[in-house]
Amino acid sequence: MENISNDKVLEALSQVMDPDLRKDVVSLGMIRDVTIDGNNVSFRFVLTTPACPVRDQLETQAREAVEQIPGVGDVNVKMDASVPKQRSVADKKMVDGVSNIIAVSSGKGGVGKSTVAVNLATALAETGARVGILDSDVYGPNIPIMLGLNAQPRTLGNRIVPLEAYGLKVMSMGFLADEDTPLIWRGPMLHSVIQQFLYQVIWGELDYLVADLPPGTGDVQLSLVQSGPLAGGVIVTTPQDVALSDARKGVMMFRQVEVPILGIVENMSYFACPHCGERTEIFSSGGGKRISEMYRVPFLGQIPLDMEIRIGGDEGKPITIASPDGPTAAVFRGMAQQLAARISTLNLESDPPVELQV
Ligand SMILES: Nc1ncnc2c1ncn2[C@@H]1O[C@H](COP(=O)(O)OP(=O)(O)OP(=O)(O)O)[C@@H](O)[C@H]1O
Ligand SMILES: [Mg+2]
Repeated sequence: MENISNDKVLEALSQVMDPDLRKDVVSLGMIRDVTIDGNNVSFRFVLTTPACPVRDQLETQAREAVEQIPGVGDVNVKMDASVPKQRSVADKKMVDGVSNIIAVSSGKGGVGKSTVAVNLATALAETGARVGILDSDVYGPNIPIMLGLNAQPRTLGNRIVPLEAYGLKVMSMGFLADEDTPLIWRGPMLHSVIQQFLYQVIWGELDYLVADLPPGTGDVQLSLVQSGPLAGGVIVTTPQDVALSDARKGVMMFRQVEVPILGIVENMSYFACPHCGERTEIFSSGGGKRISEMYRVPFLGQIPLDMEIRIGGDEGKPITIASPDGPTAAVFRGMAQQLAARISTLNLESDPPVELQV
């Protein structure tokens, strides 16, 4: 019988395609540390995100491909991930250790931006990714309440140590300012606060930093989106026409500063009656999808109106943590996976061919 060789293993694995990156997993450099011990083959399969939506499918395909080599006994696949860093953008200083910054925005207030930011962050962290959340809504910081945080961060020299909740590193103006004193920021001051939140907080190594923006698409948001080194933006909208017209402005804002739009989220899409399960489309429905088609940006999905979301927000326990097995948590998880996959694709898309690393 022929010996099993490294080459044969790689040849077999080169039949496995990554559906998002549309290349085989060997040329993408995802197969590492192939070891052959008698009849048994083991290797590491390094995905571009631990939140990969097709993780299980790829694992099965890889295992089956190697099992088909004549003479192979046990196949041991170790699934792993290494999140690619966002491209650097001219004139923007990257944040040390932070691979990808995702801005969550909305044209209109109160559509559920902070809720979406928090639950996407926890859903990403749950997969094993290193995640932070930056509450850049300095006027009305809600993230501390939504994560049940009520403490002052420590400082280290002139740097700030972020607080932690549910495995997320968190920074918010709410930690620094008195809750009952409204803050009045003028443009330049606000800009400097955000710069400090980005560069003076000890974020450590993060795969994703989710930034919750204040509502609207005015100068303030524009200056953040313009100066922040962003991997991309997510736009949250509710389905009614007034919100949708503001969502369009959100699309324009990101386009104007050439920040990729990672997707549109439609929140409060429908109410599922807890008694009979009937769906009622309180704010109409489907508008988020229409906008995404019109502007050719990905649609990340619909989140129902769910009383548990509101309770979780008020009690400091996001629904993804409070009811991880419920349908709404599953929606957030699916969105987080799509988002992560989209970021990986963008980061790797037009890079030079990846060197084979085995
Ligand atoms: N799908 C939902 N079902 C039920 N309640 C929701 C849903 N989404 C958000 N909420 C609730 O609506 C309120 C507003 O949500 P949130 O604070 O996330 O909006 P926002 O867009 O960040 O608002 P702002 O513009 O003030 O920053 C919160 O009380 C939140 O718990
Ligand atoms: Mg908010």
